[in-house]
Amino acid sequence: MEQSSDRPFTGKRILLGVSGSIAAYKAVELLRALMREGADVSVVMTDAATRFIAPLTFEVLSRHPVATDLFATHQEMLHLTRPEEADVFIIAPATANTLAKLALGLGDDLLSTMVLTASCPLIVAPAMDGGMWDHPTVREHVDQLRSRGMTVLDPVEGPLASGKIGKGRLTDEQTILQAVESCLLPKRDLAGQRMMVSAGPTQEPIDPVRFISNRSSGKMGYAIAQAARERGAEVLLVSGPTTLPVPPGVRCMHVETAEEMAKALTTNFRWSTIVVMAAAVADFRADKPSHLKIKKQAGAWKALALTPTEDILHTLSRQRTRQILVGFAAETDAILAHARKKLTEKDLDLIVANDVTTKDGGFGSDRNAATLITRDGADTPLPLMLKRELADHILDALQPFIKRAALPKPH
Ligand code: PMT
Repeated sequence: MEQSSDRPFTGKRILLGVSGSIAAYKAVELLRALMREGADVSVVMTDAATRFIAPLTFEVLSRHPVATDLFATHQEMLHLTRPEEADVFIIAPATANTLAKLALGLGDDLLSTMVLTASCPLIVAPAMDGGMWDHPTVREHVDQLRSRGMTVLDPVEGPLASGKIGKGRLTDEQTILQAVESCLLPKRDLAGQRMMVSAGPTQEPIDPVRFISNRSSGKMGYAIAQAARERGAEVLLVSGPTTLPVPPGVRCMHVETAEEMAKALTTNFRWSTIVVMAAAVADFRADKPSHLKIKKQAGAWKALALTPTEDILHTLSRQRTRQILVGFAAETDAILAHARKKLTEKDLDLIVANDVTTKDGGFGSDRNAATLITRDGADTPLPLMLKRELADHILDALQPFIKRAALPKPH
């Protein structure tokens, strides 16, 4: 095989899965493009894919036998060895049927079994006809795969094999190559940064069994902590009560009340270079929480005296040395105006304005739609997307602030 060390994928092994779509012929060009970039590519095909294109084509071009049959005795244990050796596994094109098998964890052919044994990053490039991509079942499967960390590349709009125009064409070769590149050469643009992320709700006790809280699940903050860690930052997550697992490599302090959250964040503030406040801190706590359970009484409980909690972000912004400060604004009306006001009042670099009344976004959901507003007045509206994806957009938007903070201080 051609080898040259200045090509980005040199020495990398890629497993290319091809399933039974008319777009299977495009996998031949993809194979060649991956090889041009220096990758060593082997191919696995579903039975349906072999009806669109002969395995021999891939075999000759890749210079490896093409795997097709889970039960072929001459291809012993390929379902284990090929995925084990791969640095990246691409499935292009992936049919709606293949997406369903992946989402459900089925292993009824060689390709789907290999997905179950693979531990390398998986990139899935779907292609399908008509309205299939928009079918609720397909959408659910795609969401499931994405939430498990797989990269699913949206198909593109255009003329389909059926003659219809729609979103279903296999995405372009360049997009797939870029996805491979970000798996093989992941972004490390936060290396050297120390980031504090707050997440989840706080719980303010009324008595030993009751508390004031809110609907935050912690998903947004945990997604940011995970993304920042993957991009090379040291991350301290300060989390209110949630049921979420702490992302690998992230240090976590669990807190309950706004007061505990404030203490954890202020104590570690000098250590940090970036603070992202995604937590939904309770704005009020009970004035005098009872040490004993308050007994049920006949009639109404007329009033509960409340005291405002400390505005943690405001405190941090007054203590800042060179930290970059990011706030969130959870709004139900006049979203941008309220968010801008908070950005100014709390002297933040960036605020993430989210409408918490949207059906599929805000509290508890895996998705969120937000507008990023920076100190210099630039607004970036973003569509509804997975919180993990939004996390990357927020971290991308911090790059100019990181560069500015790295400049020497003017005397
Ligand atoms: O946790 P999820 O279910 O994933 O939901 C995500 C989310 C909706 C909670 C998140 O996206 C979000 O909007 N978090 C901020 C919620 C909030 O408290 O917004 P706010 O507009 O009330 O506060 C503005 C900013 O000040 C926030 O960064 C907040 O963390 C901070 N704040 C608020 C009150 C307080 N006492 N101290 C603070 O530091």
